[in-house]
Amino acid sequence: MRSSTLLALTAHVLTAAALVAKDGKTGKLPALGFNSWNAFRCDIHEDKFLIAAQEIIDLGLKDAGYEYINIDDCWSLLSRDNATKRIQPDLEKFPDGISGTADKVHALGLKIGIYSDAGDLTCAGYPGSLGYEEIDAETWDEWGVDYLKYDNCNVPTNWTDEYQYWPEYWYGDHEDQVGGTPAPAGYDWSTSKTALRYNRMRDALLAQSRTLLYSLCNWGHSHVEQWGNQTGQSWRMWGDIVPIWEGKDDYSWGFMPIINHGVFFLEWSNFWGHNDLDMLEVGNGNLTAEETRTHFGIWAALKSPLLIGTPLDVIPEEDLAVLKNWEILAFNQDPTWGAPALPYKWGINPAWTWNQTHPAEFYSGGSERGIHVFMMNTLNKTVTKSAVWGEIPGLKAGKKYEVTDMWTHKKLGSFSKKLDVKLAAHDTAALLVTEVGGKHPFPKPAGLPKPKIYETKPKRWLAPELI
Ligand SMILES: *[C@@H]1O[C@H](CO)[C@@H](O)[C@H](O)[C@H]1NC(C)=O
Ligand SMILES: *[C@@H]1O[C@H](CO)[C@@H](O)[C@H](O)[C@H]1NC(C)=O
Ligand SMILES: *[C@@H]1O[C@H](CO)[C@@H](O)[C@H](O)[C@H]1NC(C)=O
Ligand SMILES: *[C@@H]1O[C@H](CO)[C@@H](O)[C@H](O)[C@H]1NC(C)=O
Ligand SMILES: *[C@@H]1O[C@H](CO)[C@@H](O)[C@H](O)[C@H]1NC(C)=O
Ligand SMILES: *[C@@H]1O[C@H](CO)[C@@H](O)[C@H](O)[C@H]1NC(C)=O
Repeated sequence: MRSSTLLALTAHVLTAAALVAKDGKTGKLPALGFNSWNAFRCDIHEDKFLIAAQEIIDLGLKDAGYEYINIDDCWSLLSRDNATKRIQPDLEKFPDGISGTADKVHALGLKIGIYSDAGDLTCAGYPGSLGYEEIDAETWDEWGVDYLKYDNCNVPTNWTDEYQYWPEYWYGDHEDQVGGTPAPAGYDWSTSKTALRYNRMRDALLAQSRTLLYSLCNWGHSHVEQWGNQTGQSWRMWGDIVPIWEGKDDYSWGFMPIINHGVFFLEWSNFWGHNDLDMLEVGNGNLTAEETRTHFGIWAALKSPLLIGTPLDVIPEEDLAVLKNWEILAFNQDPTWGAPALPYKWGINPAWTWNQTHPAEFYSGGSERGIHVFMMNTLNKTVTKSAVWGEIPGLKAGKKYEVTDMWTHKKLGSFSKKLDVKLAAHDTAALLVTEVGGKHPFPKPAGLPKPKIYETKPKRWLAPELI
């Protein structure tokens, strides 16, 4: 009895340890790279990936840390090989197969990612991997693949969850699961069929010789944040992104709804497992310079993976500068402080209001360099926002601190109470705060006190005033 319990415990610990990374380093920090979907949808060809890879190098993005060149949906033939049951690459799009593209990408010192789906078919109708996990993982391993994005379309009915949690029907204070039954209190989502589908692929990937970063894409369904860290290295929190500030477009969403939702689940993100706010739209649509800064700055501050989704051969200079901003990237990739920046104050609405137009506006977090403050203007007009030392965890009211603007890298000076920043519509201030002379304001990152609002945050992430 006792020894079988011990055995079970040991097995669990071993699985968890293996997940951290086969190679002991992959996935500790949010992934940086390129993905084809936001730039090209299904209109893909090897050339586009090789151009992206070359530009990643030529534009200095590799030096900035970007390393993955990820192929999204539509890379395969419509059916598996009849005899081997393997997914077959579309040789018109990838003349030398995926292994050929992988070799070329590896020769540039970069890594390559592939895409599949935990259902019968991918979202675009190509073969999915449900029921074929081992064959597919083995195939990708043989091709030299380094990363898997695993989508959630076309799930057969016998794999549908008993209870439904789709975050777009969660309003911060109540669930309204259209067409599904909300789970009873205390339900363990790691036992859901969705978790099982994703765990099957985890186990298949872990059995391979290569280390594949495993990126779950089930849109925050089935409370993936609660089991994602035992399953993969990142997990999507919400529906697909489009390059718009607020609102939605068909099934896809603007920045404000995505940030609004993500902020309620930040405690689940840390080293080795990251909430994914979806791939970047920097360079796409009609974003203003301010909106581009906010998109990239908040994605980085909340420790989302940062996957470029625009054609890099025609990227405007100012968008490239945002993607390469070393101070913003350094916060996202900080080796000592894994937690995302957390809201220390809300903004337009009372704390913990779930609102798709006005999410939290004031965030702070630690890095090995100091304390960072991010202030986002969700209004359509210019406002002045104040970073008040007494309100920011780790800073002392009335003490003099030195402030650097992370966007321009300019030292703004020393300030003893607060710093006022004028922010145009939809802009975000990103500030590094240190003691005068540049010393870190706290001795160890672990010393950063948790904001009070988090200490009182209940298990099910409801707004405290609503309990
Ligand atoms: C193999 O699969 C294709 C596509 O599904 C089908 O058209 C073909 O008849 C199959 N070939 C054999 C030998 O079964
Ligand atoms: C669903 O049906 C398939 C095919 O019959 C079977 O292999 C699979 O195990 C079933 N899934 C579940 C969760 O029962
Ligand atoms: C996720 O798992 C890793 C390693 O297993 C652990 O270090 C990390 O703290 C976990 N993240 C959270 C938010 O618990
Ligand atoms: C950008 O603006 C143009 C012209 O107003 C419009 O047609 C297009 O749909 C916009 N693109 C996006 C992604 O909003
Ligand atoms: C979001 O917040 C704004 C500002 O308080 C408010 O006017 C709006 O009604 C809120 N939206 C919803 C859906 O509650
Ligand atoms: C901001 O302006 C846009 C475009 O005019 C409008 O649709 C939106 O409702 C405005 N948002 C706020 C919060 O006022």
